Amino acid sequence: MGVRGPYGNSFPIEEFFGRNLVFVAGGIALPPLRTLIWNCLDWRDKFGDITIVYGARTEADLVYKRELKEWQERGDVRLVKTVDPGGNGPGWDGKVGFVPTILEEAAPSAENTIALVCGPPIMIKFTLPVLEKLGFTDEQVYTTLENRMKCGLGKCGRCNVGNVYVCKDGPVFTAKQVKAMPMEF
Ligand code: FES
Repeated sequence: MGVRGPYGNSFPIEEFFGRNLVFVAGGIALPPLRTLIWNCLDWRDKFGDITIVYGARTEADLVYKRELKEWQERGDVRLVKTVDPGGNGPGWDGKVGFVPTILEEAAPSAENTIALVCGPPIMIKFTLPVLEKLGFTDEQVYTTLENRMKCGLGKCGRCNVGNVYVCKDGPVFTAKQVKAMPMEF
């Protein structure tokens, strides 16, 4: 038996110390950000404002509902949850609208802030211009391209974007790095 790895990088959390954080996630793409969120909450005093914008198609599609409730009840986190139009039931206490629209409405300040984005490609495609409109530079925005990985071992060659291997060089990249890649969202 052989063991390969671990490969790839991670969110450079220590570089975020002293900054405000905005997490933006859609659907089942919350899990890659969840552990980072918990890390940041464990070190809560090392960060400024923390905002989490999370959405899914319907209420049933939201994941980690218990944790969403916990974050919603904390006084030191701003949780903005949303579902697509029609995805809300009568008891829904969140927003209704697509994640990029709700992010724009929530309008977190870009000053001294890092944005961490993970979601389906279409969500990322429409979220990046919103962040730009809010004043975020490409260096202030991080995303993770985990959905492009296949073997995760640096062997299959199916995660590459140009000469970048997502499994070995990523999966975490800044928006500046992503925009330099020859890829379509
Ligand atoms: S996921 Fe197979 S080489 Fe990267």
